[in-house]
Amino acid sequence: MSLKGNTNFRIEPSNSIIGKANIPGDKSISHRAIILAAIADGESRIKNFLQGEDTLATIRVFQKMGVNIKNDRDIIIVKGVGLHGLRAENPTLDFGNSGTSVRLLSGLLSAQNFSSQLIGDASLMKRPMSRIINPLQKMNAKINCTDLGTLPIKIEGGQKIEAIEYELPIFSAQLKSCLLLAGLYAEGTTKIIENTATRDHTERMLANFSHSVIKKGNQISIKKADRLIGCEIIVPGDFSSAAYFIVAAILTPNSNIILENVGVNPTRNAMIKIMKSMGADVELKNERLESGEPVATIYAKTSKLTGIDIPEELVPVAIDELPIILVAAACAKGKTRLSGATELRVKESDRIQSMLDGFISLGIKVKALEDGMIIEGGQYNGGVINSNDDHRIAMAFSIAGIIAKAPIIINSCKNVATSFPGFIDTAKHLGINIDYV
Ligand code: S3P
Repeated sequence: MSLKGNTNFRIEPSNSIIGKANIPGDKSISHRAIILAAIADGESRIKNFLQGEDTLATIRVFQKMGVNIKNDRDIIIVKGVGLHGLRAENPTLDFGNSGTSVRLLSGLLSAQNFSSQLIGDASLMKRPMSRIINPLQKMNAKINCTDLGTLPIKIEGGQKIEAIEYELPIFSAQLKSCLLLAGLYAEGTTKIIENTATRDHTERMLANFSHSVIKKGNQISIKKADRLIGCEIIVPGDFSSAAYFIVAAILTPNSNIILENVGVNPTRNAMIKIMKSMGADVELKNERLESGEPVATIYAKTSKLTGIDIPEELVPVAIDELPIILVAAACAKGKTRLSGATELRVKESDRIQSMLDGFISLGIKVKALEDGMIIEGGQYNGGVINSNDDHRIAMAFSIAGIIAKAPIIINSCKNVATSFPGFIDTAKHLGINIDYV
């Protein structure tokens, strides 16, 4: 009987995690490739695109605005309509669970000739949007959300967007990218000041489409664009997805894995630095650039970990890996402290609360902080975890199940498909005893 209709995971302990695996395409880079290809002149071809629910939502939204996008799975062919070629009549655009799509597209849609309304699923409808609304209004966009600062967002078309100089009050690549996309249409030069680095995929992707930003110190400048030029993009494997198996190999005895073609952009891979400072045996080899992004083969082996204070400046560049880093910390000798991570509270779930609740259910000692937590290393008991419909919580606790004293059941894992549709298959391939129940 196929259990694939079920959405709970059951994980039993494994003796070792061994082998080579390919990790699906990077979610952030896949979104950006579609967005820029849609508004470029000419055809773009995107390889190793992430076929996840979030990135498919981005494709659907552009199809609704008249862009011809052919998804053959192996390759996506986008017939770009040019910067001013999107067409729709007051559409309601549904972004599902994808915060990245709705925030990036708000910048782009603010500069179109038509009005639009942006909605999402129950989780996305609760997430904060004022962070993008305020600066876009400063750019002369007519954009509003609810009084609570949430979706639906309403955008009035036909505005003349103007450049601004803006210091990011939150270390968010989604906010930065939203403003860079609006900046493509803004009269003058938009200047963004970023005091702590966040992922720079939009900046790199713009260069692929022949419109470079200028980075001087902590200032990023973008000029109004005349045109973007379609191109070929190869999307690297998603480091955030690789992170689960890196930790699986580190925590499990007699383990050794190789993950090929993984994106290792320095604004994404701080998790390696954090794990190494805890004592992990992780190495990058065959480092190279592909479509402007650093890519490598990652080797990870069984290691003994010691707890650390996670440096706060690394939090924005390890933001999506923090749940799995915490899963590792719970097996380290001594205490690990995470602070400066309030942003985790406004992800697909309140990730600080989801992790605390999970740790308590599995018998790990934790102390809650407003902006993080302190974890004391121990051993996981078996138990039942609620993922709160959050893909990263579901995948992080799946890894805890490999080394727990008894099986772990994780409820409500449907949203794993937003970022890693083949998670179960890849996990099984590497020797993890996981299945749907
Ligand atoms: C993303 C940026 C991050 C990250 C999200 C993807 C992106 O969000 O958590 O999964 O693609 O720009 P913030 O920029 O809000 O921190």
